[in-house]
Amino acid sequence: MADSLYLSTNSKKRSADEFLAAKKQMKHWESDPAASLANARHEFGEHGGVNMSIEASATFTVMEPETMGRMFSGELGPDRDFFIYSRHFNPTVLNLSRQIAALEGTEAAYCTASGMSAISSVLLHLVSSGDNVVASQTLYGGTHALLTHFLPRCSGISTTFVDIQDLGMVDEAIVEGKTKVLYFESISNPTLTVANIPELSRLAHRKGVKVIVDNTFAPMCISPAKLGADVVVHSISKFISGGADIIAGAVCGSASLMNSMMDLHQGPLMLLGPTMNAKVAFELAERIPHLGLRMKEHSHRALVFATRMKKLGLRVIYPGLEDHPDHALLTSMINKEYGYGGLLCLDMETEEKANKLMNILQNCTQFGFMAVSLGYYETLMSCSGSSTSSELNDEEKKLAGISPGLIRMSIGYSGTLEQRWSQLEMAFSRLQDSKN
Ligand SMILES: Cc1ncc(COP(=O)(O)O)c(C=O)c1O
Repeated sequence: MADSLYLSTNSKKRSADEFLAAKKQMKHWESDPAASLANARHEFGEHGGVNMSIEASATFTVMEPETMGRMFSGELGPDRDFFIYSRHFNPTVLNLSRQIAALEGTEAAYCTASGMSAISSVLLHLVSSGDNVVASQTLYGGTHALLTHFLPRCSGISTTFVDIQDLGMVDEAIVEGKTKVLYFESISNPTLTVANIPELSRLAHRKGVKVIVDNTFAPMCISPAKLGADVVVHSISKFISGGADIIAGAVCGSASLMNSMMDLHQGPLMLLGPTMNAKVAFELAERIPHLGLRMKEHSHRALVFATRMKKLGLRVIYPGLEDHPDHALLTSMINKEYGYGGLLCLDMETEEKANKLMNILQNCTQFGFMAVSLGYYETLMSCSGSSTSSELNDEEKKLAGISPGLIRMSIGYSGTLEQRWSQLEMAFSRLQDSKN
């Protein structure tokens, strides 16, 4: 299948070093994901509508019987507007995939029914039975469980968990020939530690290992592929969707990777069927143009709240704060306009104190909702140790730096900033009063 099928207009395959050298010579806006999205092909509707049409068909007709065979042999494909069946390619989903590729600055992308299906598909494609993955010890609980329990049981794939901040430890863990993938999150869930993407990519590539980065926490803010990653995965269910109403995911990478993942005999996207529905793809495509605006406001409010909480003497974790250990690293990697991300953590030490505070924040001062997930316009908060990281055992949580009282907050942008701050402040003083 032709590579041009996936190409966003300004994409090119480059090594990390080549890219960083080229980046220095670029006009500042050329490396901005918003500029890349604006350069990507805009699809009009069937009758000239400014929005694309929804191709709500599972299957596609042909005008001559011979065409079917030519499509199955790969001679005619979506690049020439020939479609077979929507588990394979659907025009509406493909258009969203082009947008996601432009967003991440990769040649290609493929949108899936969930973040977990994107992650499991690409892992099962790049790693075979008997192979090894080296992964960060601080990962979303579902990914951690996939690597710890599911993959060893179902496919004989082992994982070595490491502290990715310790480059020597990562280097030592990678066994040349056996380790196929280095896997980590750009900003980790939930502890907000930052991965040194250029260094980790260099280190992995020296040993022929592919780098997969989960960029769910930082779309627009960080562009992992431009920093050296081979594959970027997303839970679109979070910031990219922004509505807390859709579960979706994406794999972003080279056109040849996507083509091989669609192979009729070996491709996990084709054979495991993690397909996105065309109606969902349309909904999501309408939200991509304002993702940048949303990310700026999520990040702005998170920085203001973190700064003020710190002044109140609270144990707040936010990589946008100058005294966060990864602040300088993150500053060197981010696309400046979009800030340091919309998540912050508050360490209340015990689960009991964390629960008390969240109860006041939701049920008394109406600051936000007790719910998992992130990237919504309302603030969402959860105690990670007993929710989204509960798959980790106590020792794993300790290694990952997840304290029992850690509250992860996805800062929303509804209401005014000062209104929300006064709700936060009021909750802290109520909590204080309840202790006296
Ligand atoms: C960092 C990260 N990656 C992946 C996922 C899984 O995504 P989904 O829920 O869309 O399957 C999540 C979900 O919480 C997540 O936080």
